[in-house]
Amino acid sequence: MSYPYKSAEGIIESQNRYMFPCTPKYRQPVVIVEGRGALVKDIDGREYIDLFGGYAAVNVGHCHPRVVRAIVEWAQKIHHTSYDYYNIPSAVLAEKLVQVLPMKGSKKVFFCVSGAEANEGAVKLARKYMFRYKRKAGLDILTVRYSFHGRTHLTVALTGQTKYKKGMAVTATLPGVKIIPAPYCFRCPFRMRYPECGVLCAYYIEDVIKYETSGDVGAFLIEPVLGEGGIIVPPREYLKIAHDIIKSYDSLLIADEVQTGFGRTGKLFGIENFDVEPDIMSMAKGITSGLPLGAIGAKAEVADAFDHGDHSSTWGPNAVTCAAAVEVINVLLEEKLHEKARDLGEYFMKRLNELADKHKIIGEVRGLGLMIGVELVKDEKKTPAAAEALKIREKMRERGFLIGAGGAYGCTLRIEPPLMITKDQVDRAVDALDEVLKEN
Ligand SMILES: Cc1ncc(COP(=O)(O)O)c(C=O)c1O
Repeated sequence: MSYPYKSAEGIIESQNRYMFPCTPKYRQPVVIVEGRGALVKDIDGREYIDLFGGYAAVNVGHCHPRVVRAIVEWAQKIHHTSYDYYNIPSAVLAEKLVQVLPMKGSKKVFFCVSGAEANEGAVKLARKYMFRYKRKAGLDILTVRYSFHGRTHLTVALTGQTKYKKGMAVTATLPGVKIIPAPYCFRCPFRMRYPECGVLCAYYIEDVIKYETSGDVGAFLIEPVLGEGGIIVPPREYLKIAHDIIKSYDSLLIADEVQTGFGRTGKLFGIENFDVEPDIMSMAKGITSGLPLGAIGAKAEVADAFDHGDHSSTWGPNAVTCAAAVEVINVLLEEKLHEKARDLGEYFMKRLNELADKHKIIGEVRGLGLMIGVELVKDEKKTPAAAEALKIREKMRERGFLIGAGGAYGCTLRIEPPLMITKDQVDRAVDALDEVLKEN
């Protein structure tokens, strides 16, 4: 296939002309033509260290040779079969994924195409479970502020950030959606300090259930570490307390592992950092590290609430994407990338904390594994430094590093590189950030 473009400018101009203008306002002017591991190359041959992995998705690295081989093998054999028939990669993947899900007892999985679709299916399943086994509707679904669960109508409603809802007739009051205060210690919703707060935000869930819901709660849906909202790590006890409250109301816990899954946080799944067992999990991103595949995992007794025909997805059991996911899991386990993410993540944060001692603009460095946030503030009052975050992202790009800037207040640098990034690449990134912050 030949392409009509010779330069980045031509591609950017064409995209601006033909694409819906809902893509990010500050899209980076980098046309990526190749990727290997934690490196990507642009159309002009310039190399970058990728610290963001296409929204924290490329866990085993760009174009891992084993993943490429699996993709090519199945791309030459068969792409698509649908759920009316069977194929080999989706069968292998189902068995493999079930083996690694952090739930005891029998488990089952379902394949779809994206994280949002996985969350939609997870909520449908929770409600069907309540209907079938508890004689309830499972009307109320609790989520937290600053969360992000996707861009479909329901998942935007479930997302705890108004900026994604404006003008689209989606509000937090969509029947059954209840958004509660988040475990965001740096900007505590109760103006308290951990641990003196006694993890009030977790116990508050019970108040919400008692006084602000119909009492018919289907599920509590939460990212074990809030990603898009600004890499918000809840206090250690939060998820256990939340889990116990949810269980005492006979409801389900859904872990949105779309971003935290597949080694990102130093464990295979984010929830494993908190010794809590979810009933349902949604997955995507790192599952293939580069192709569109989503998945739902659930305890078998929950999954079995679905009847034949209750749910489906045309591309779900795609042979090529499932083959890629099988190899991604093999690589993760064999190369122990989650353990590497844990160790290198600690080192990365230690070095970033050294920068925090020097540069007042860094309000907090936080994270788990290679899911790291650097929240930037203008002053002691923690005024969000959002414009500065964008400027720093630009300057990092000019120095050859791709980094995320976002979070609920727009002021968090998001560092979520491929998990096989090297210590040397980490050092170079921190040194570059140090230089950029000096100039700021
Ligand atoms: C935690 C979480 N859930 C869901 C989604 C939505 O995933 P997708 O873009 O694949 O629909 C994202 C995407 O960033 C996410 O981070």
